[in-house]
Amino acid sequence: MNTQSTYITDKPQTRSKKLDIKIREMEIDDLAPVFHLGETLFDSDTLPTMYRTWDDYEVTGFFNEDPEFCLVAEHKDRIIGFALGTIIIKSRSAWKYGYLIWLGVDPAFQKQGVGEKLYLRFQDLMIAEGVRMLMMDTSANDIAALKFFKKLGFNQPHEQIYMTLNLDNHRKSKSRKTKPAK
Ligand SMILES: CC(C)(COP(=O)(O)OP(=O)(O)OC[C@H]1O[C@@H](n2cnc3c(N)ncnc32)[C@H](O)[C@@H]1OP(=O)(O)O)[C@@H](O)C(=O)NCCC(=O)NCCS
Repeated sequence: MNTQSTYITDKPQTRSKKLDIKIREMEIDDLAPVFHLGETLFDSDTLPTMYRTWDDYEVTGFFNEDPEFCLVAEHKDRIIGFALGTIIIKSRSAWKYGYLIWLGVDPAFQKQGVGEKLYLRFQDLMIAEGVRMLMMDTSANDIAALKFFKKLGFNQPHEQIYMTLNLDNHRKSKSRKTKPAK
């Protein structure tokens, strides 16, 4: 059983630190560096739930579906961070929701304001799209991420519980495995 925290904000803030970085839209040549950076950040320890896993389809999927909401942070021609998100429109709701799904910064460049710059650019894009509420979710024990989003104005954490059921021992699974291959 795992718990997740989801933070919601409608309160923008500004702050930046000195590091020569460029925040820009992701381009096709960035797919591999972003994927490999994400591999170092989102492993099974940091992402204990299986409902969301970091893989190549995740990066290419967002790049195909929402390229304008895929951002990278570049420092001296090196990709040191990324933000991937989307907009959710619910039926029977006048509200547009922005969802920041993946935010990652190269550990060598963390705590220097890169994540904040990526986030603030993403927030600007959401405001320009008419989004009224931003959401993010992360593991309840990811203290760095929780402090990061709290500092940026996210609040009202909602706890969610994930449960799993291993079907390997189910009698139907067992009989499926013992059936001769056609
Ligand atoms: C969360 C993450 C994106 C933050 O990026 P970052 O560039 O290091 O963050 P910033 O330097 O912009 O930090 C802004 C503020 O967030 C808080 N913060 C960031 N990292 C923190 C840490 N390790 N511990 C405590 N607070 C932290 C601080 O309040 C910081 O402000 P301060 O430096 O003035 O105290 C980065 O730690 C990361 O990539 N983590 C792994 C992936 C992840 O968990 N992503 C989020 C869920 S998808």
